Amino acid sequence: MIALTGIKPTGQPHLGNFIGAIKPALALQNRPEITGYYFIADYHALVSERDPACLAQKSREVAATWLACGLDPEKSCIYRQSDISEIFELHWILSCLAAKGYLNRAHAYKAAMQVNQEKGQDLDQGVSLGLFSYPVLMAADILIVQAQLVPVGEDQKQHVEIARDIAMKFHHDYGDVLTIPQIAEVAEASTLCGFDGRKMSKSYGNHIPIFCDSSDLQKLIKKIPTDSSTPQEPKAAKGVLFDLFKSFATEDQINSLKEKYQHGVGWGEVKESVYQQISSYFASSKEKYDHFMAHPENIDAILIDGASRVRKKARQVLKQVKKAIGVGNNHMD
Ligand code: TRP
Repeated sequence: MIALTGIKPTGQPHLGNFIGAIKPALALQNRPEITGYYFIADYHALVSERDPACLAQKSREVAATWLACGLDPEKSCIYRQSDISEIFELHWILSCLAAKGYLNRAHAYKAAMQVNQEKGQDLDQGVSLGLFSYPVLMAADILIVQAQLVPVGEDQKQHVEIARDIAMKFHHDYGDVLTIPQIAEVAEASTLCGFDGRKMSKSYGNHIPIFCDSSDLQKLIKKIPTDSSTPQEPKAAKGVLFDLFKSFATEDQINSLKEKYQHGVGWGEVKESVYQQISSYFASSKEKYDHFMAHPENIDAILIDGASRVRKKARQVLKQVKKAIGVGNNHMD
């Protein structure tokens, strides 16, 4: 069974991505019945990223993050979306089946229209066909390898629903060539908050990168707002700081922080514990990350190998799809 997920390389991966996508997706890697496909959605990033050097750099950062966090390229496949040209051929085919009315309601497009509406601008101002078609490309990512399981956070669920809808339409019109994917719910995804208390997200700018300098990490944790209770006052074991700690601590460590909250503890001390906890959790991964970033040729070699394995599968699926819809020459490879 194939489990597939992608990350758009638009910013440094943050702790919300780690808890919401990377960690649960990597856990699937250890299930014997599952082959993990993890890819860098660089063509999705093209919707907003126009700086070529930046796009290339961000793509490597994302790959290095997954590898440093434990992705095993022997067991799983990690690749660049842009290296699998079959995805883009399938994208066109799917776009002929996708219902425009459904895409009108997709989150990213609706959000862009809302911004325009608030500014009193034409609703489609600055909206590219790529942004509108974002969910169709995502459907192609998933369906080209007949992925059965798609672990995503709350914000991407609608996109996977759209992929399911398109796959069902294909079934209806042409038979069961494509696999209808299941969403693997990632419950924690929506709960990790950024330093301002809202959901941690690149778009809110409230994120804490996984691999930042220790001084930056300390600064970001210091920014987390706290109440004005004195160190002696008991505190409820909840809130942004507590949740952050909890995400990276063992049961025992969580209990001992809970006790401190009950007996009273200064916010400075709590922040220091959160900082220590996160840095030690990622200490060995950070070394691997720095090593990969210093040797981008190693990252590229792994991505090329992953892509060549995935393309074999993608080529087969595309061939079946083309045959089913009645295009192309079946004798050509
Ligand atoms: N849209 C996803 C994100 O922004 C990335 C992505 C692209 C993806 N294609 C995918 C995720 C296919 C799961 C499956 O994070």
